[in-house]
Amino acid sequence: MKLWGGRFETGPSEIFERFSNSLHFDKRLLAADVRGSQAFVRSLTRAGVLNTDECACMTGAFDSIREDSVKPNFFDGATDEDIHSFVIRKLKERVGSLADKVHTGRSRNEQVSLDTRLWLREECDRTLGLLRALMGELLALAAKYPDAIIPGYTHLRRAQAVLWPHYLLAYFEMFARDYERFTEARRRTNVMPLGSGALAGSGFPHDRAAIAHDLGFDSITRNSMDVSADRDFALDYLYAASVTMIHLSRMAEDWILYSSEEFGWLELGDGVTSGSSLMPQKKNPDSLELIRGKSGRVLGALNSLFFTMKGLPLTYNRDMQEDKEPLFEAADQLNGCLEMAGLVANSVVLRPHVPLEAANESWVVATDLAEALARNGTAFHQAHQIVGRLVLESVRNGKKPADWNADSLATFAPEFTPEMAALLHPREGMKTREIPGGTGPATVAAALAEAGARLQSLL
Ligand code: ARG
Repeated sequence: MKLWGGRFETGPSEIFERFSNSLHFDKRLLAADVRGSQAFVRSLTRAGVLNTDECACMTGAFDSIREDSVKPNFFDGATDEDIHSFVIRKLKERVGSLADKVHTGRSRNEQVSLDTRLWLREECDRTLGLLRALMGELLALAAKYPDAIIPGYTHLRRAQAVLWPHYLLAYFEMFARDYERFTEARRRTNVMPLGSGALAGSGFPHDRAAIAHDLGFDSITRNSMDVSADRDFALDYLYAASVTMIHLSRMAEDWILYSSEEFGWLELGDGVTSGSSLMPQKKNPDSLELIRGKSGRVLGALNSLFFTMKGLPLTYNRDMQEDKEPLFEAADQLNGCLEMAGLVANSVVLRPHVPLEAANESWVVATDLAEALARNGTAFHQAHQIVGRLVLESVRNGKKPADWNADSLATFAPEFTPEMAALLHPREGMKTREIPGGTGPATVAAALAEAGARLQSLL
């Protein structure tokens, strides 16, 4: 069924219909479309356009459409232009010509904005819930190995020793920022557009605040032209989704490396890994590789909508129908990846002696030694030179930090005092980093507790 036609002498070509119809993807908005239409009908009744019997008849029919929509075959044979046209046809099948009144003063331009906002608001809540769950898994994984030491990396070269919980809390912070971004995206989405008409504002006296209240929106949009032209709320979600996917992808990359034979720190659970059809020994981190791979699709969705919106003249243009597939795709991929990442985190087993050994056998303590010299009065540049020479000498002679002691250090350079020899062991050096945000053991224990309390406050 068409919501227009009077002005045309012939109908659209079959090719154009196939080209432009969106029902096959925007049918996902059915529940939102029905809910919004029910609120609109109630508003028309308050505005004196419909009587209460007509209102009850239509809202009841909308209920039955929603109930029937879960049945298989509900959409079979439908050739309607979009979900809005489809729902009106279904309404007409149920209430006859009364359905002709439902679009009084309503444009699909405001309707599609409303439907997308209603759908996206729920999607934000789903994402926020999955983020909370993942953050909880990270804290649990940190708490399993509170004292474990790993080498932290820059340039993928061993840099300085950090506590395992400190490393995991870095991701916790990223996801906490993502949480804020989705909260903000939800806030911007949760604004009610109905009453805007096609672009100029409705010609009927709707109480817009009452519609907002009916549908659980925080407030109403302020400009009818902006409503028809705006997809910022979708871009905000896609941006938040893209940043989250980058965080997930980087965590996936870390854990793919750390679980490799070359690193050997982590064992991933059988439930999140796969084997090879040829090589019997393989245990592949496919779950993490897919998270890394799917991040590209979400970043692509953000770019897709950016390019669709760029340069569109105000107000609505049919180009904007191209917002939905990237939005649906991004939400599905994101939520799937968040769920998967939580399960992987839950399955991780750390072999603490492996990263500890990696820290011990490398010169991650070099900075600790240089800083100790500087604290004792040696200018930092000189201290850096002394320890640099110590490392060079050791590398040449195959010596590890533990091969040195207080005497040999003092012989190497008189600036070394006997107490500094303790810093040849990474765990000692970390104790000098009790600064807010640092990897000092007491600081990290407090940070873990604080993160737990912050997560609780999000529930
Ligand atoms: N299917 C359209 C979309 O998703 C609905 C709005 C159509 N409005 C119009 N004036 N053609 O954007």
